[in-house]
Amino acid sequence: MPDDVLARSFERIGADYDRYRPGFPEAAAVTIIPERVPAVLDLGAGTGKFTETLVRRAERIVAVEPSARMIQVLRSKLPEVESSIGTAEHIPVPDASMQVVTVAQAFHWFERDIACAEIKRVLVRGGTLGLVWNHADPTCAWDRACHRIAHPAVTETDATTDSADSALPGFLLTRHEEVRWVERLTREHYLRRWSTVSTFLTADDETAARMLSAIEAILDDDVDTRGRNEFDLPQVTDVYIYRSD
Ligand SMILES: C[S@@+](CC[C@H](N)C(=O)[O-])C[C@H]1O[C@@H](n2cnc3c(N)ncnc32)[C@H](O)[C@@H]1O
Repeated sequence: MPDDVLARSFERIGADYDRYRPGFPEAAAVTIIPERVPAVLDLGAGTGKFTETLVRRAERIVAVEPSARMIQVLRSKLPEVESSIGTAEHIPVPDASMQVVTVAQAFHWFERDIACAEIKRVLVRGGTLGLVWNHADPTCAWDRACHRIAHPAVTETDATTDSADSALPGFLLTRHEEVRWVERLTREHYLRRWSTVSTFLTADDETAARMLSAIEAILDDDVDTRGRNEFDLPQVTDVYIYRSD
């Protein structure tokens, strides 16, 4: 069951999330929707970082997101997208109205069984569910070390593996792809990114400062980041595609 306090931590941010979090490679959207469809729903859409990769993939794009601050950013960036406040457990969309539902970096926050039933309800028969997560590249030692500081109990990878198993009720897993890409970013940007992560958002000031110092120490120590203002961050985007059965 997702941690409600962590899940709701995103209510407090919007612009910083949009500015500092990584985007998604368009290849992830193309993998889920190889040919343009009439309608796609992006669920837990946040500020629209994945929604923006869908603009060429569907005639109609709908975004649903519980945080007013996040959706405000999405609306200003993507006025052509139909957006509503809502949750995966109560999707404000009619039955059988979407060919595809996408969920980027958010499925692990949902009440899985209730959300699966809701997603199935809004999808047409045989419709597609695409789950997407950005991950630390396992070959990048310094980024992995920083992830272990920020997520001491459960790593993002664990959350993904637990959430995207092949046994989602009402769905069949049909494909799993890893899209590899590289992001060039400044040290400042990388450090600020951590302040948008749920464990930082819910930590007290002292704990957040301690985690940030530990991350800075890793950057000061690693040969790929030491003394550099800019560096390359390898990223892996995991894409899981399901078909409604
Ligand atoms: C890590 S953010 C990802 C946002 C966006 N999809 C992206 O990739 O940038 C997780 C999002 O899930 C949303 N969320 C949390 N619980 C949710 C729920 N039960 N139903 C729908 N969205 C939820 C949060 O408000 C937040 O915007």
